[in-house]
Amino acid sequence: MSKPVIWITRTLSEATLERARRDYEVIWDATDTPGSADDIIAMSAQVDGIIPCHSEHFSAAVVEQLDPRLKIIANHSVGVDHCDLSALRSRGIIVTNTPGVLSDATAELAMMLMLCAARKAVAGDRIVRSGAWNFWSPAFLVGKQVTGARLGIIGMGGVGCAMARKARGFDMQIHYHNRSRLAPEVEHGAIFHDTLDGLLAVSDFLSLHCPSTPQTVGMMNASRIAQLPAGAILVNTARGNLIDEAALLAAIQSGQIAAAGLDCFCAEPGGNAEFSDHENIVMMPHVGSATVKTRDAMGAKALDNLDAFFRGDTPPDLV
Ligand code: DGY
Repeated sequence: MSKPVIWITRTLSEATLERARRDYEVIWDATDTPGSADDIIAMSAQVDGIIPCHSEHFSAAVVEQLDPRLKIIANHSVGVDHCDLSALRSRGIIVTNTPGVLSDATAELAMMLMLCAARKAVAGDRIVRSGAWNFWSPAFLVGKQVTGARLGIIGMGGVGCAMARKARGFDMQIHYHNRSRLAPEVEHGAIFHDTLDGLLAVSDFLSLHCPSTPQTVGMMNASRIAQLPAGAILVNTARGNLIDEAALLAAIQSGQIAAAGLDCFCAEPGGNAEFSDHENIVMMPHVGSATVKTRDAMGAKALDNLDAFFRGDTPPDLV
């Protein structure tokens, strides 16, 4: 029997490409450029499945033009906001994602951003690197202490729970807001707030770990940012559009927000040029899940989902 044909849109890990080539006819090239709408539409007539990343956009307009040959989109991402799910559902196209396996890597990066923002790492690095370190003073680069502070987490899924686990190592007091309260054995003493307002009021540090949906886009707007304690630090490793970037900039300029750590932006790639003037905004280019171990695990999950589908089973990570 001939192997199903799949398109792998980007450069996935060696282990993933090797396994994919063993079990499928793979269309892939090494240019590692995001697939455009035209690429996706053209490719849908040649393949049975696609492994895309969040860089390929399956908008309603694209989905409408997909060839009926395409049966499954096995995302190499946990986020699926690049897919118009209702359009895909109405075309009968299966969508899967890679939950769980990137929680630790993403939480690790959130911790790094939080620590770097709190302890002024960007300014410190620049001062040492540029040779401008010519004095020491007890008033020099004094930051905000993370140990023992209150951490608010919005979204207590896999990444939020991993963030809580890591923050406990810093003796942080964990508070969270989530669609529903976690079971006590999963909460590990974290304090649930059934309203966002309640959480914001106690968050010396706030870390976002919820998906981007019509309900959460722009969630951290000027009035919500104003509810944080003065001098709070905001961390975002989820999706850029959860934050109103103009409101964040104004809060950074006024000092209402002491610092921010951002791995994602409203405009990607590129980010927000206005943030670059502020050394108290630590920025990374959307690399939360970028570790060797996690990339291998994401690739394996995407392939497990394809394998299940082509065997006639329900894929384990059906969205
Ligand atoms: C995800 O998996 O959603 C990450 O943001 C990388 O795409």
